[in-house]
Amino acid sequence: MGELDGRAALVTGGSRGIGRAVALRLAAEGALVAVHYGGNDAAAAQTVALIAEAGGRAFAVQARFGESGAVDRLFEGLTAGLADHGADGLDILVNNAGIHSVSSIGQLTEKEFERLLSVNVSTPIFVVQRALPLLRDGGRIVNVGSAATRIANPLQIGYTVTKAALAALSPSLANELGRRGITVNTVEPGVVLTDMTAGWTGVPEAVAGLEAITALGRIGEPGDVADVVGFLAGPQGRWVTGQIIDVSGGTYLGPITGG
Ligand SMILES: NC(=O)c1ccc[n+]([C@@H]2O[C@H](COP(=O)([O-])OP(=O)(O)OC[C@H]3O[C@@H](n4cnc5c(N)ncnc54)[C@H](OP(=O)(O)O)[C@@H]3O)[C@@H](O)[C@H]2O)c1
Repeated sequence: MGELDGRAALVTGGSRGIGRAVALRLAAEGALVAVHYGGNDAAAAQTVALIAEAGGRAFAVQARFGESGAVDRLFEGLTAGLADHGADGLDILVNNAGIHSVSSIGQLTEKEFERLLSVNVSTPIFVVQRALPLLRDGGRIVNVGSAATRIANPLQIGYTVTKAALAALSPSLANELGRRGITVNTVEPGVVLTDMTAGWTGVPEAVAGLEAITALGRIGEPGDVADVVGFLAGPQGRWVTGQIIDVSGGTYLGPITGG
């Protein structure tokens, strides 16, 4: 028996990277997982297949965030997929899908920032709004923010501001939903090895620089984040709500003097 047997989860951006690891983690605990993705059909199919091979249950749902009607499409696919699997509600929502951009304040364009806001902030807000009627009492909402909100980096100013906005959602939502036993938290990963960071995690000097400012001395793996999301989404996370949880292996805590 898994601790999430009988539960249903939606993981946005569940087809690759951190989202895939979260989808695998929740499915391994017994949850039926809706693996949302934006456009890469093959990656989504592969995630669903990996879950099935491991004995779990999942289905894919496509909706390109940032395009008009995306939230409607997501929920059409979600409700149809849940019904196909004999489920009529949702227990876990992981708002993970997100995009990044590298721009200083001088380089950031209005179009770029509007897209960041749309995918990283507006869409998750309206996904929550649409999910609430489906979300059963005792449910879980976990948002995937970023440790970028804590560590100044002038070259990702637009991204950082959107992730700060996303994190601001948790306390108010937690207060609104707490009487139903629903918890709402935001995890803030540091740098994690995914396609999003592949551009520079292949550069040994960049990796060494990051390891040098990280207490645990390495870059994160998707599973490092998924385990924390899995804890928050499971019964053992029942008493944590309205929180922002740093999941960065202790990146940039201060000077490292030991060892
Ligand atoms: N990687 C890091 O170092 C890091 C650090 C801190 C926070 N985060 C956050 O963690 C989350 C996941 O990051 P990741 O590194 O795993 O990303 P990733 O490897 O680039 O995967 C992104 C996922 O989101 C989906 N997605 C992207 N844009 C979308 C859109 N417009 N509409 C719908 N789906 C879309 C992708 O689906 P398709 O492939 O089908 O488009 C994919 O499933 C993001 O919110 C990111 O900001 C990442």
